Amino acid sequence: MEQLLQPEAVEALLRWYETHRRDLPWRHTKDPYRIWISEIMLQQTRVEAVKPYYTRFLEAFPDVAALAEAPEQKLMKLWEGLGYYSRARNLQKAAKTVVERYGGEMPADEEALRGLCGIGDYTAGAIASIAFGIRAPAVDGNVLRVLSRVCGSYDDIAKQETKKKWSEALRSSIPEDAGSFAQAMIEIGAVVCVPNGEAKCGECPLEPYCAAAKQHLTDVLPVRSAKKPRRVEDLTVLLIRDGVRTALHQRPKKGLLAGLYELPNLPGHLEEDTLPEVIRGLGFEPLRIRRIEDSKHIFTHIEWHMIAYTVQIAPEFDGFHAQSGMLLVENGDLRAHYAVPSAFSAYTKYLW
Ligand code: ADE
Ligand code: SF4
Repeated sequence: MEQLLQPEAVEALLRWYETHRRDLPWRHTKDPYRIWISEIMLQQTRVEAVKPYYTRFLEAFPDVAALAEAPEQKLMKLWEGLGYYSRARNLQKAAKTVVERYGGEMPADEEALRGLCGIGDYTAGAIASIAFGIRAPAVDGNVLRVLSRVCGSYDDIAKQETKKKWSEALRSSIPEDAGSFAQAMIEIGAVVCVPNGEAKCGECPLEPYCAAAKQHLTDVLPVRSAKKPRRVEDLTVLLIRDGVRTALHQRPKKGLLAGLYELPNLPGHLEEDTLPEVIRGLGFEPLRIRRIEDSKHIFTHIEWHMIAYTVQIAPEFDGFHAQSGMLLVENGDLRAHYAVPSAFSAYTKYLW
């Protein structure tokens, strides 16, 4: 097959990467476990936000076996604020599989990696190439943008088949140093060939080989069909407190934010004068209710539009409140042991 990128373009890219690469914590290792953790964290989270999580996570769970045995609350606590908690659950499931199936060592094989929970085509390619030097393509959204521009392609990058096509087409262009190539492509997409008409073609090693740069198409490419609009859900969030403790509610085991502890909330935007009855319905005696700020949180397919109240209640004596099924947790304990999803981050400041 004809090569997607000419050897000279690949050479230029690798030379550029050597001198321009950002110094990132996961670039000091070839440990496949560490590369895996970094790639999962980087999937939906910015590099700067990932750094401290990456360090803390690896201190707590330094290898596959430690992750496989991690207590759930500790795992969730270390993930708190990163969002998309199913990533953490999948990591643990996959770690258990690696222990059982591969004796605790990550397999040096693209297909075997893809067979692990939470590892798709991109992540399998990234681990295989970066950790093991296997010539595997690692094509994420950023790399798709770079390829579409370099090749002047109008294929819709929102389509799964486009991603598959580019991944396979890229294979024959991958050089011996597959790990540096994968990271160089990611790096170009992250800092040079950026979206929204901001591409810095003048600084780009691929410019002499790039169709979009020659034809002034960086504002047109890549083509991405519109996503389905997100569903908006209105919620009323309650910070129910008895002075030293705050009520938490565990979400159902399935679905959005599965199994995580949340601030109690009710569907709809409830008026202040309807609240005393609602709160008594939960089995608490409200003493004082105060409206606090609104906030929004955007998930992949859903948007939460929240209004919120602090609710001072009469002291309760049990940590587990049977009528509402909620836990009353002391703030210090909450901070140390419970992972409250970042969807509620506008309100956690009221907890301490
Ligand atoms: N995004 C995904 N993988 C990455 C990596 N290895 N370095 C920087 N950003 C990334
Ligand atoms: Fe992107 Fe411009 Fe580089 Fe082409 S030359 S890959 S459009 S930054």
